[in-house]
Amino acid sequence: MKIDSQTFESLHAEYQLRVDTALDHWLPTESVNPVELHKAMRYSVLAPGKRIRPVLVYATASALGLELARVDGIAAAVEMIHAYSLIHDDLPAMDDDDLRRGRPTCHRQFDEATAILAGDALQALAFYILSHDPEMTSNHKARLQMIEKLSLFSGSRGMAGGQAIDLASVGKQLNIAELETMHIHKTGALIRTCIQLVALSTNQLDKGKLKILDSYAKCVGLSFQIQDDILDVVGNTQMLGKPQGSDYDRNKPTYPSIIGLDASREKAFDLHHRALDALSNFGEEADILRYISAWFVERSC
Ligand code: IPE
Ligand code: IPE
Ligand code: MG
Ligand code: MG
Ligand code: MG
Repeated sequence: MKIDSQTFESLHAEYQLRVDTALDHWLPTESVNPVELHKAMRYSVLAPGKRIRPVLVYATASALGLELARVDGIAAAVEMIHAYSLIHDDLPAMDDDDLRRGRPTCHRQFDEATAILAGDALQALAFYILSHDPEMTSNHKARLQMIEKLSLFSGSRGMAGGQAIDLASVGKQLNIAELETMHIHKTGALIRTCIQLVALSTNQLDKGKLKILDSYAKCVGLSFQIQDDILDVVGNTQMLGKPQGSDYDRNKPTYPSIIGLDASREKAFDLHHRALDALSNFGEEADILRYISAWFVERSC
């Protein structure tokens, strides 16, 4: 399907609705004990996030001609890992932020212990979904490979490792290679996982296509975090739904703090163009992925 910006908007809305339905389905209701923990999980996950990771999951499925129902579980699982990472990222021991998705952060709304447990439980729930969702695949080996991929990319050699580098870097002057390593891990790893999990669910994706999609994912994973750093400087708290200036206040090394705003914007756009180049062998079935890449670097929230 050839798409224009209006079609992109409506597909984006459709994907957001789809994953919200899946999230609601997998999350225990608030009446289930322990009530406070389930309330905190639902509060954080169902808050109005952009859902960029699920959107990438659905867009990849669509580019590969897969039925979207097949990847609802993948979309929900990656969003739960992401929501858990945000809850923990906001804790006083980490970024110590009070606002997330336009609402008080989980530890502010509930308490620190509940926020830690909500993050723990969401991480566990993501793996429960990957191991149980009947729609995803009937191939047990592929299912195990998905679990392996998500555990590797979200753990100490992926997202959690990136967060450790982030915290160890406070107040330090990183060079650009070190900064890139941090970003590739803390944000890029989960974004790459979105695409790899969809590829695994097809059972028979050829290696060439997977390599192309992974190159695309590496570019947009980094451009997304560079724009996040840029918005910490030029964004607006109300639009962002999180405190603008938090990185600056906490003395975090970011792209703008190291190479300046203009060079950061150039770098993000260069990655966007590299993402488009990576997709050059795909036809219009990948248009949605092309739009997503543009959105990542043009967004203001
Ligand atoms: C924020 O992620 C944390 C980063 C990895 C930059 P998002 O910008 O995707 O946050 P939500 O999900 O829209 O709230
Ligand atoms: C968070 O990065 C990355 C993860 C949660 C893994 P940031 O600390 O930059 O995210 P924001 O700016 O608080 O959303
Ligand atoms: Mg952080
Ligand atoms: Mg943060
Ligand atoms: Mg940030």
